[in-house]
Amino acid sequence: MTLTIRELHPGLGAEVGGIDLREPLTAEARDELRAAWSRHGVLVFRDQDITDEQHVAFSRHFGNLEVLPERDYTEDRLPEIFILSNVDEKGEILPTDSAAVTFNSLTWFWHTDSCYRAIPSRGAILHGIDVIEGGGGETRFANLKQALAEMPAALRARIDGLKARHNFVWMRMHRDLAPMKPEEAASVPPVEHKLVRTHPDGSQSLYISPVYMERIDGLDEAATRALVEELTEWASRDRFVYEHVWQPHDIVMWDNTWTMHLVMPYDHGHQRRVMHRTAIAGTEAVL
Ligand SMILES: [Fe+2]
Repeated sequence: MTLTIRELHPGLGAEVGGIDLREPLTAEARDELRAAWSRHGVLVFRDQDITDEQHVAFSRHFGNLEVLPERDYTEDRLPEIFILSNVDEKGEILPTDSAAVTFNSLTWFWHTDSCYRAIPSRGAILHGIDVIEGGGGETRFANLKQALAEMPAALRARIDGLKARHNFVWMRMHRDLAPMKPEEAASVPPVEHKLVRTHPDGSQSLYISPVYMERIDGLDEAATRALVEELTEWASRDRFVYEHVWQPHDIVMWDNTWTMHLVMPYDHGHQRRVMHRTAIAGTEAVL
């Protein structure tokens, strides 16, 4: 088996060919994929009709797996599988005001996954099962290493050394979602992360997750919102962003330590969108 790796965008993203994810991964292919994942930030595998068990088995090659704090959206049988879906158990499209649909709309805001943990996730692997066709539902990824490297000096000087408070419970209140169960809320207390992050290899990136950022060090509410907006606007410019247009059974795997992402808005009410995700646990704090 020979892997092929083709760049998708000058900033980040590569498509991997010559692999069947239903088959066990060889140690050699695993090492090549780990290197490509670190280098390109986002890897795309086309036409991979895998089961949830195969999805979990593939994901385990890259680290331990997280379980989402909200168990309503994880699979009972395999809690490592987080379900993003607008379809009920009978296969009917859910009403647009249902809790699951509102929860899915959170992905329309820029974020990095599990920034609300002291050690955020290393990455995620998303399987597009039913995808939106004809516009909407694309996933955009931004390269936060490049966004920092090219940042105007004046903006950079304002964020060096600052920390931001990321808060899952605040985000939910702020977005008018139903309150969490007390034991779920208690499992995700607010955490602080630096805005400029240094990675184990010495490289640096911006570390932001706009929808979860409750407060930046030393700034009041209004100044926090203004700076979060300015950083988001900067980092989401076209030259830093790869947009993934989904085809059925695409698998997209991203590095969560130096990219952020969002889903382009789509019509919840007319087309099925069913995605299964695993999250690979991080191994280090944001330093
Ligand atoms: Fe996400």
